[in-house]
Amino acid sequence: MEGIFITMEGPDGSGKTTQIDLLEKYLEKKGYDIVISREPGGTAISEAIRKVILNPEYKEMSHMTELLLYAAARAQLVNQVIAPALLEGKAVICDRFVESSAVYQGIGRGLGVETVYEINGYALGEVKPKLTIFMDIEAKEGLRRKRNQMELDRMELEDISFHERVVKGYRHLAGLYPERIFPVDATLSIEEIHSMIVSEVEKRFFANRGN
Ligand code: TYD
Repeated sequence: MEGIFITMEGPDGSGKTTQIDLLEKYLEKKGYDIVISREPGGTAISEAIRKVILNPEYKEMSHMTELLLYAAARAQLVNQVIAPALLEGKAVICDRFVESSAVYQGIGRGLGVETVYEINGYALGEVKPKLTIFMDIEAKEGLRRKRNQMELDRMELEDISFHERVVKGYRHLAGLYPERIFPVDATLSIEEIHSMIVSEVEKRFFANRGN
């Protein structure tokens, strides 16, 4: 069986984790060994970098430092976890990946989407997601859902206009790369969203294969 690589994207509070759990169960039933990862994180080194990036005390962090740290965490995850899993034919689902950098650093921080993809090219090598699910929700609604959380991290503490740029950025990328990025209305019910994701996965990975 060929490995499959799916990434889940969306603003904070868009419900990515719930949908990843459901997608995992669905792909398990299909007979896949599953690897779930989150970004930034997923390896000891990447989790250590995550703590530096998201620490609200580091108010002085430059935007370029932020971009490079996310890319460094990603390089380690790709090298240590994602590439080997795909080689073994596993299904890899990643909670955030390169599109998070494209929208948060490229558009939100204003570093430019092209710069972000260029730098991340070094982190990714040949590893590219086959399908990117975009949980589309207004920034305000996502943050409202997040407020139930105890502590907000350095990114979540950004003002609402930053998060609005992030959502617009995702919509822009979804328009540019419709063959890879699948947008879903994240205000629908959990079950409705899951069934839309399942039909997209069926169409992209399992059509004409008789399973
Ligand atoms: P995440 O783990 O999804 O946060 P949470 O679990 O609290 O929803 O992501 C942490 C934050 O990092 C999130 O605000 C998005 C941001 N981020 C970037 O800015 N660039 C990136 O490349 C990635 C992967 C995440």
